[in-house]
Amino acid sequence: MSLFSLKNKTALVTGAASGIGAALGELFAYAGATVWIADRDEANGRAVAERIGGKFLLLDVASEADCARAAQTVGALDVLANVAGIGYVGTLLNTTAADLDRLHTVNVRGVFNCCKAFVPAMLERKSGSVINMASIAGVVAVRERLAYTTTKFAVVGMTKALALDHSHTGVRFNCICPGRVETPFVLARLKEYPDPQAAYLDMASTQLNGRMAKPEEVAAAALYLASDESAMVTGSALMVDGGWSAGK
Ligand SMILES: NC(=O)c1ccc[n+]([C@@H]2O[C@H](COP(=O)([O-])OP(=O)(O)OC[C@H]3O[C@@H](n4cnc5c(N)ncnc54)[C@H](O)[C@@H]3O)[C@@H](O)[C@H]2O)c1
Repeated sequence: MSLFSLKNKTALVTGAASGIGAALGELFAYAGATVWIADRDEANGRAVAERIGGKFLLLDVASEADCARAAQTVGALDVLANVAGIGYVGTLLNTTAADLDRLHTVNVRGVFNCCKAFVPAMLERKSGSVINMASIAGVVAVRERLAYTTTKFAVVGMTKALALDHSHTGVRFNCICPGRVETPFVLARLKEYPDPQAAYLDMASTQLNGRMAKPEEVAAAALYLASDESAMVTGSALMVDGGWSAGK
């Protein structure tokens, strides 16, 4: 018996040149899928694709035309993982309307654009799994993350609306809500603190187990949602947050 296999499936992961998206791409390839690494960062995206034996696709998820072209190039998908996203630190006082629009364009419109481009073929084939990378900030507000929290609540809402409208077809829509994850970006920022270990513990303290997640631990949740073992799961927001959202 082979559980969580993605053999004979084609998966596309956006934002896969780095961090969580790269980990998803790697695990999906390991599980047997044909994997498209889609990102606007060509150099790192090509490197990830080469390392995992996948294919690279230059894609700006903020561009509707780019996403439509991507669907022409790639064809029908079994798994679409919308991971591309950007962050911004700020309260109302230091967030401009332009900041909010910028985050919305990538984090919300980006997911919408990719769904618009790839989901119709899934609906026609009556199968497929769409996995949106939301965040703990899509379920509870995170301090000084006004714009980011706003967009991630929208991603959770969009996922549930998609599930409600289309899950009767056999296509499933779920999102993952990670807490803090040890991505290269986060690790690089920690090094800027006078005491990186203390800064790590402080950032990880919102999680009940006192540590950040590894990108592979988020990828494991995505593999579950991508595989047929999660056939009964749609419209869910899977918390991979070390218990952050459980209460305090
Ligand atoms: N790192 C965390 O602690 C954390 C926690 C919760 C949720 N998330 C979410 O997980 C996702 C990935 O985060 P990460 O930490 O791995 O980030 P990252 O910065 O390491 O990777 C993000 C990738 O997305 C790509 N990207 C950004 N804008 C794009 C666009 N318009 N089109 C195509 N690609 C684009 C970047 O080039 C990069 O390769 C994001 O949606 C983020 O909000 C991250």
